Amino acid sequence: MVEPSRSRFWFEGRSHDAEPGRTVLDRLLRHGLPSLQRSPRYHRPRAPFCGIGQCTGCLVRVNGRPNVRACRYVPGEGDRVETENAWPSRRFDLLAAFDVMFPNGIDTLHGFRRPAFMTPLYHRVIRRLAGYGQPPSRESATELRGPPRVGSADVLIVGAGRSGRVAAEALVAEGRHPILLDRRADVAPVAGADVWASTTASFLPPRPSTPGAAFDLIGYTEPARGVLVRAPQVIVATGSYDASLLFGSNDRPGVLTGDGALGFARSGSPAPFHHAVVFGAGDRARVVLDELGDHVSALVAPGEIPPETVRVASAAGIPLYPRSLLCTTEGRSRVRAVEIRARGNGSSTRLECDAVVLVHRRLPNGQLFFQAGARMNWRAGTGSYYPVVGDDGATSVPGLWAIGSASGTVGAASVGSGERVAAAVTGGSLPLSPLERVRSDGSNELEGYYRELVRIPRRGRWIACPCEDVLLEEIEQTTRAGYRGVEVVKRYSGLGTGLCQGRYCLPDALLLLSIAEGRPPSEVGYITQRPPVHPTPIAALAALDGVLTPAEGT
Ligand code: FES
Repeated sequence: MVEPSRSRFWFEGRSHDAEPGRTVLDRLLRHGLPSLQRSPRYHRPRAPFCGIGQCTGCLVRVNGRPNVRACRYVPGEGDRVETENAWPSRRFDLLAAFDVMFPNGIDTLHGFRRPAFMTPLYHRVIRRLAGYGQPPSRESATELRGPPRVGSADVLIVGAGRSGRVAAEALVAEGRHPILLDRRADVAPVAGADVWASTTASFLPPRPSTPGAAFDLIGYTEPARGVLVRAPQVIVATGSYDASLLFGSNDRPGVLTGDGALGFARSGSPAPFHHAVVFGAGDRARVVLDELGDHVSALVAPGEIPPETVRVASAAGIPLYPRSLLCTTEGRSRVRAVEIRARGNGSSTRLECDAVVLVHRRLPNGQLFFQAGARMNWRAGTGSYYPVVGDDGATSVPGLWAIGSASGTVGAASVGSGERVAAAVTGGSLPLSPLERVRSDGSNELEGYYRELVRIPRRGRWIACPCEDVLLEEIEQTTRAGYRGVEVVKRYSGLGTGLCQGRYCLPDALLLLSIAEGRPPSEVGYITQRPPVHPTPIAALAALDGVLTPAEGT
């Protein structure tokens, strides 16, 4: 029997098998956790952090197109994958000298102004040395301008996680034919629904002003198509994700979110660590202990550790460090140890490890609600904003619905909320008992934690915004200069303006600014959430010209 020829892609001059449904990162993880790129200002080595297409830790250049996420891109025959932002190589980058030369940060916003006649030259040089890679090649830009994918449905569901799928199945059972889209490549089909994988979408303003008018969403489908979807009812099921944390050298390769650690281990590749420190003690920590306990060497928690977690960790012989501050990581190109300190001015301890897994809080992917103009509420349980929703999932915007963990529901109710929304959308009814939701009153556990943390002596770079390399010192400088509110701080420092659109820096920034400004986090404000919610090639959006006509009622 003749074996079918295998497709191959190229990475750094070596060819690798390209398997259907397997991403570039899946393939590279077989050789351990790769450092794929350098950060934009200080050229610090960066490695995959989230594994779910939301951070800037795995950006690569594919066939001349910059900033493609290796954890999302499924390579095809002959694809050329390269690293970005490093010279001469990602392992040895001469430009990393910036990290040493500017210990207090490169002030590109306000510095480099004297003598004035040199300013244009300074700016040209800085633009070449910092930022996200080089512009796309002419060929890749042309390819992106290909015919877009255009669709319409009476109901669009954004997010094909458990609650999104439950909603899709319930709608199909009622005779509807929804479109279900998700940015993952490996989305299982739902009979009767149109499933668009590897697709992102954002609301196109202005939103409809008349009842029943359709929403327009624009976005992108990998590998190279702009997307326009039109639907009068949109169900947002975008789920939640494991948050980041501020500490010294928090961007060192080996620092991972729980999403990343679990996703990499579940991808079929060997776990990319052997003795990790887990930070967090709730349900999510127990999932990591259950699945990766053999690869965990210690569990550190910001507060007390629940008895159930103590039981699971003790059974696996994992030492516990409750009520501790995670102060800094150590290591050269990878985490080799962490320093922790008992809270309340306690002593410090050094723990050897090869990874840090962050599972201390889970946050909602709520950008689409902000974009659509839905009323939002601060919930202290996670320290985040959620849409104001009824028990049937209706938001304050007619035709916009919220389900699953993005809507603030927790536990089993989170999945069941998909059925309720489907019933409400089709005019049916289900008995509506109140859903269990994230706690809205009191304070978030991390507020007290950060109050202590910011007072300890600092070692290493404290990166407040990894996408833009904004340091904690720069945020502090901004507040000392009298700027108040996160929107103003964003404009002054660049925090929250990177490719993750503030997902990983804003939640901590809100807590830190609330401490600095002496008011509750809910009063610090929020940054404007403009489309797109995920990086989208401009050429792909330009290809929508001609198919984009004003929706009825807008
Ligand atoms: S690891 Fe790929 S985007 Fe975060």
